[in-house]
Amino acid sequence: MFPSHSFAPLKIRGRTLLPVVQGGMGVGISAHRLAGSVAREGAVGTIASIDLRHHHDDLIEMCRADPQHETLERANLIALAREIEAARKLSGGNGMIAVNVMKAVRAHADYVRVACENGADAIVMGAGLPLDLPDMTQGFDVALIPILSDSRGVALVLKKWIKKGRLPDAIVIEHPAHAGGHLGVTNIDDMADPRFEFDRVLAELEAVYASLGLSRDDVPLIVAGGINSHEAVRRWLGAGANGVQVGTPFAVTEEGDAHPNFKRVLADAKPEDIVEFVSVTGLPARAVRTPWLTRYLRNESRVRVKLGPLKLPCTTKLECLSVCGLRDGIEKFGQFCIDTRLAAALRGDVANGLFFRGREALPFGTAIRSVRDLLELLLTGVARPAVARRAAFSLG
Ligand SMILES: Cc1cc2nc3c(=O)[nH]c(=O)nc-3n(C[C@H](O)[C@H](O)[C@H](O)COP(=O)(O)O)c2cc1C
Repeated sequence: MFPSHSFAPLKIRGRTLLPVVQGGMGVGISAHRLAGSVAREGAVGTIASIDLRHHHDDLIEMCRADPQHETLERANLIALAREIEAARKLSGGNGMIAVNVMKAVRAHADYVRVACENGADAIVMGAGLPLDLPDMTQGFDVALIPILSDSRGVALVLKKWIKKGRLPDAIVIEHPAHAGGHLGVTNIDDMADPRFEFDRVLAELEAVYASLGLSRDDVPLIVAGGINSHEAVRRWLGAGANGVQVGTPFAVTEEGDAHPNFKRVLADAKPEDIVEFVSVTGLPARAVRTPWLTRYLRNESRVRVKLGPLKLPCTTKLECLSVCGLRDGIEKFGQFCIDTRLAAALRGDVANGLFFRGREALPFGTAIRSVRDLLELLLTGVARPAVARRAAFSLG
């Protein structure tokens, strides 16, 4: 377990945890190895539920042999169950194993069910309002953690959930101007809106909590996006957050589940290489300008005009999203297959992958370090000397 630090612990559903949470990162970027390693240190480690079959050779083989939608979906649910079990084993019973589920994913209710049935400690839901999450998890003893971006969204979820007789066990407040992956705004130009500033959200939520008779012990707040140093952790925990969620810095750890090339692309990216664009989900997203993304962005308007409102069959048969710009012919959304691109990035295919990344510099610069080193740096400000370790990566 982790040595001492000066911050108050994060308490979620009766568990005492380190106040640094590892954010869920799909496709396959945070699977059992990363989540289990983080939990082993006494923190929340999060498995991203989407399309985990890529980590299991036998399941990929099963999908190749029978490339039907039902088979792909079944493979992913089997993979999620396996990843939860492996993460739990690795954690040695420490910390918490959370499963991140995106509301925008068509099979989100199945992912939630399988996560609960396989003993996930928490469900973390973003990319859409998780208004029915309490209904989906009825009868399971599992922490529920919505991801939202402004106080209005938090107030809405709190009020709706209170009517259902359930409180969130924590809430993640993710800042769209800093975080990686899909961002919680409808309009790309809205990202820097002051309503997302952590200081403002924390202050506005004081009034919301008071009006609902809630305290932070009831529903702790975790801020996410761009937290990349001990100073940043100190600042936000000092400003009243109960925890911080960190994504990109964990993606590039030795234990991160992606190919080493994935980590290199993220770690080597310079500020000018990081771009925002509209994803097929319709949400803005942030990623590294790699060869495929450069090409796509150059041709985006031409592709939009060419395809127009034309509906296309799902290219992978996975039908991963409830609403997909490419499949459903939604001209103002992105026009590419997100699953194909994210899976290529996971495999380290630099030419063809889509590499999600947060906007800020990394705590260890371009160095790849362990989960333990990262937690220690974030919580104590002390960077241990690097120890040469063998990179461990396998798909399957
Ligand atoms: C590669 C990558 C993939 C991500 N995938 C997801 C995801 O599947 N679901 C989700 O809720 N958030 C996702 N995120 C957001 C992270 O969980 C986290 O909240 C965010 O990146 C925090 O900002 P930071 O990267 O600046 O630390 C992703 C982020 C990255 C960098």
